[in-house]
Formats: sequence, C-alpha cells, structure tokens
Amino acid sequence: MPEKDPLWFKDAVIYELHVRAFYDSNGDGIGDFNGLIQKLDYLQDLGVNCLWLLPFYQSPLKDDGYDISDYKKILPSYGNMSDFRRFVKAAHSRGMRVLIELVLNHTSDQHEWFKQARESKTSKRRDYYVWSERADRYQEARIIFLDTEKSNWAWDPAAQSHYWHRFFSHQPDLNFENPRVRKDMQEILEFWLKTGVDGFRLDAVPYLFERDGTSCENLPETHAFLKELRAAMDAKYPDRIFLAEANQWPADVRPYFGNGDECHMAFHFPLMPRIFMAIRKEDAAPVLDIVKKMPAIPDNCQWALFLRNHDELTLEMVTQEERDYMVREYAADAKAKLNLGIRRRLAPLMSGGRRAMELLNSLLFSMPGSPVIYYGDELGMGDNIYLGDRNGVRTPMQWSGDRNAGFSAADTAQLFLPVIEDPVYGYQSVNAEAQKRTPTSFFHWTRRLLAIRKQYQAFGRGTMEFLPCTNSKIIAYVRAYEKQVLLIVNNLSRYSQPAEFDLNAYKDYVPVELFGSVRFPTIGELPYFLTLGPHSFYWFRLEPPANG
Ligand code: NOJ
Repeated sequence: MPEKDPLWFKDAVIYELHVRAFYDSNGDGIGDFNGLIQKLDYLQDLGVNCLWLLPFYQSPLKDDGYDISDYKKILPSYGNMSDFRRFVKAAHSRGMRVLIELVLNHTSDQHEWFKQARESKTSKRRDYYVWSERADRYQEARIIFLDTEKSNWAWDPAAQSHYWHRFFSHQPDLNFENPRVRKDMQEILEFWLKTGVDGFRLDAVPYLFERDGTSCENLPETHAFLKELRAAMDAKYPDRIFLAEANQWPADVRPYFGNGDECHMAFHFPLMPRIFMAIRKEDAAPVLDIVKKMPAIPDNCQWALFLRNHDELTLEMVTQEERDYMVREYAADAKAKLNLGIRRRLAPLMSGGRRAMELLNSLLFSMPGSPVIYYGDELGMGDNIYLGDRNGVRTPMQWSGDRNAGFSAADTAQLFLPVIEDPVYGYQSVNAEAQKRTPTSFFHWTRRLLAIRKQYQAFGRGTMEFLPCTNSKIIAYVRAYEKQVLLIVNNLSRYSQPAEFDLNAYKDYVPVELFGSVRFPTIGELPYFLTLGPHSFYWFRLEPPANG
C-alpha cells in the first residue's frame, strides 16, 4: 500500500498512460483495464509510483475521451466499474497511486445535459451551458484549437442559439455560474473519490467562467470555485490531490496553488518548451530565466514537470520569436505542426539521440517538482505524424516484436490506431521485451535513474539554487533537503565542455557521483573543475567531511 503521508505527491514519479493504448486483454484491438492490470508489474519494475490515466469515461471519442457523455460510466470497450476497482486495488497493492481526469470545463454534445439543454429555452438543463443570441460576445478569448475552430461560438439549430466552447465545437462549455452545475460536478468528484483514486488532473481548468471584457481565463470566480472544491475534498479525503492543467504564463499559473488551499500540483507549462530550447541552443539561459521568473509556490505544493504528453508540444507560453525558433528546429516537416505546437514524441524530437534523451531526463528528474513520464518514452518510442490530430503520439504501447507490437491479438486492421512500423522506431526494434533483455537499453537506463532518484527525497522536496558557471552551455544547481545536498551538472552542448564552480560553501565536502557511487576529488579552496562529455551530466551527493 502507498504510504499515508499527505505530501506523498512530492515524492511521486508519475507515469501517464492511456488505457486504450496500453494493453488489450480481449483481442478487440482496444486496450482495457484488465490489460492494464496485467502490465502493472512492468510499471512497478520500472519504478514509477503514480499512474495518471487519460479519460476512460463514456464518450463518443471525438476528442479521445475528453468529450464525456457520462461521467459516471466507463467506456465499455475499456471495461466496467468492477474492472476499474480491481485496477485501483492492484495499483495500490504495488505501492502505486492513481490519478484520473476530472474534465470540468465541458462535456460532449452527446451528454444528456446538452441533449436536454438544446431542446428548448425552458428546458431545466438550458442553463447548464453558455448560450447567446449573438456570436460576438467574449471576443477577447483566444481560440485554442486553431487548426479546427474558427470561433468559440457554435450555432445550434435545435436550440436556435449559439453555444460557447473553448475546444472542439462538439464540446460545449458548462456554465459554472449555475450553482447546479457546480453541485453536480462536486458530486461527480465525490463519486470517483469513493472508488479510492488518489487524485485528479483538472483538465482545462482556466476556462470555467466567462466575463465580458476579459480573456475568460484565470478569472477570480474560477479560483474561488476551485478552493471550494478543494475544501469539500479535504473535509473527507485529506490525502487526495488536484493537479491543475493550466497552460498559462508564470504569473497566471501561480494562483492555481492559492495559499496552499487550491491545487496541490500544477504542470510546469512555462518550463517545458524552454528545456527543449535550451538543449537546441546549447544555452542555459531559457531555463535559468524562466525558473528565476517563476514566483515561489507554497510549501505544501509541487510542480509536475514533463517533457512530453498526449498533446502536441504546446508553444502557447513562449514568444512568437521563440515559437518560430522551435518550429524551425523541431518541426521541419509541416506535418509535425498542430495548432500552436509540435506533435512529436521525445525520441524523434531528439532525432533518436540517446545522449540527448538522457540529458533531458536528467533535467526532468532533478529539477524541483515531480516528473511525469509519458508512456513509451521510457523505451524511446516513436510517433506517426501522418495520423490525424494528436493520434500520432497515442499509438499502441510497444511490448514486443510480435504481431501488433504484442499489444493485441486482434487482426491488425482492427487496432484502434496502427502501431509504429518505421525502420527506426518500429516495434520490431523498439519494444519493452527486447529492452528488458538488454542491460544497456534506454529502459534499463531510465529504470536506474528512477531508482537513484528514489534514494534522495531532496529531488522531490529540496530547495534549488543555481550555481553560476562561466560556461553558458552548462546548467548546474544544488538541491538540498534536511541533511541531503545534491549537486547536479548538465552539459547542454553536443560537444565536451569544461566547467568551473565556486563551491566554497562546501569546502572539504566530497562529491560522490550517484550512478556509480564514485568519489570525486574533495572540494578545496580553488574553483571546482569538471569536464563533461557531449550532452552528459553528473548527479553528485555532496558528502560532508567526517568531522563536519
Ligand atoms: C486538454 C487535454 O490535454 C486535451 O487532450 C484535450 O483535447 C483538451 N484539454 C480538451 O479537453
């Protein structure tokens, strides 16, 4: 069973997965809960201690499940409620927590509420959604799915009115002004809390309320509602958490933590693209700048750090110039672009470069926060930019070199999405079975990284101080927690680099390299000198002098 510490999320290593893409136990071409249960040993062996599941609720699947038509039902192709309960129990018995999705902002247009709402102006559900006679209200609100939607309003012929939607037009926004909507959502939260899940990713959380003359994002009403929801959850379930999906600038993300009374965690959207910029520019500045700009967060809160996820690599929170740079460098093929982002997985973004992938993971696992691994990235899985929307990064998990990547016994044509088959990332060469058999594989490397991280709470809980370095290609910091002091040094360059640091504060300490427990020369009076190979990094523990 996972430990009872209410701050457990600070030590979490989160694995994001899609039930549909993970493992198919009944040969229908679609992953399911029973399949996932069979693969929990794999996840436990990898060393993750928290699973985040993409939406698995009843849905027409026009936005891969983020379009929910019944919040309390599980999509039959994934299993049923008793399968889900068995899954939660099985995960818990392996010491793994479970996070699920709470999609507050919108429903599917197939939801009973919307069906009733559009029927007539007097329908008791009419007020569940945001209607308008005219399609020119809230003009300051940006359009998020730029490649598909022209407006945040859609005309509904049945309702004879326009309805508001921040995402696809088949996803009408709920009207949070309506106390019954707020109450129903709280009840849905309670329903899932009772199943024993450990927390919720709050999807699209900045957009709950609308106000004339604003961007309709991050409104005070939204924060007030989240605080209410949090208080209701805390009252009965004090160790459950909220993880905010708020793709916003630093000053606008920070309020989602409130005074430690709103969301426990939030994704670090501003940091993510800047890590990719830093490695490509071979310059620490993008990361240093954003971390320095980021306001401090309350002690009982934590960042969720990530490199990739099930969406495009979003470039909303960078300047136009930075966006152009990212697209030039990482999306040479126009097919790789989607909305304001890049629909690629980690390995292809790094052109399969093993050292670069390791370096990115060094940053992901050593900067302040809890890291999130996207399923398959521990193997260096590839993508397929010729599939529509974001499907190219949601293909079946590659378990083995067998038919359908060992994901399913179905006819290949029946798979929910085709497996990756190209010569570089195809399942014949990139798969879990082969990598488990190969001690030098990326899987084993990642597993080792996780095991090392687990030994030091400083990674999840420690303070961070950047160490000045005259070489701008080096990014180094000290993480400290209680008696643990860690020194992390990363070389962003594809060439070897020298680095000198003023470590006077740690005079007479011995840096011990964590992968090999190798003792480096004792820190003296002079600047500490290190050389780093291409895209390499060091994780050191600083051991105090015996008499210190
Ligand atoms: C954010 C999710 O990550 C994305 O996949 C989804 O399409 C939108 N929210 C709408 O729910």
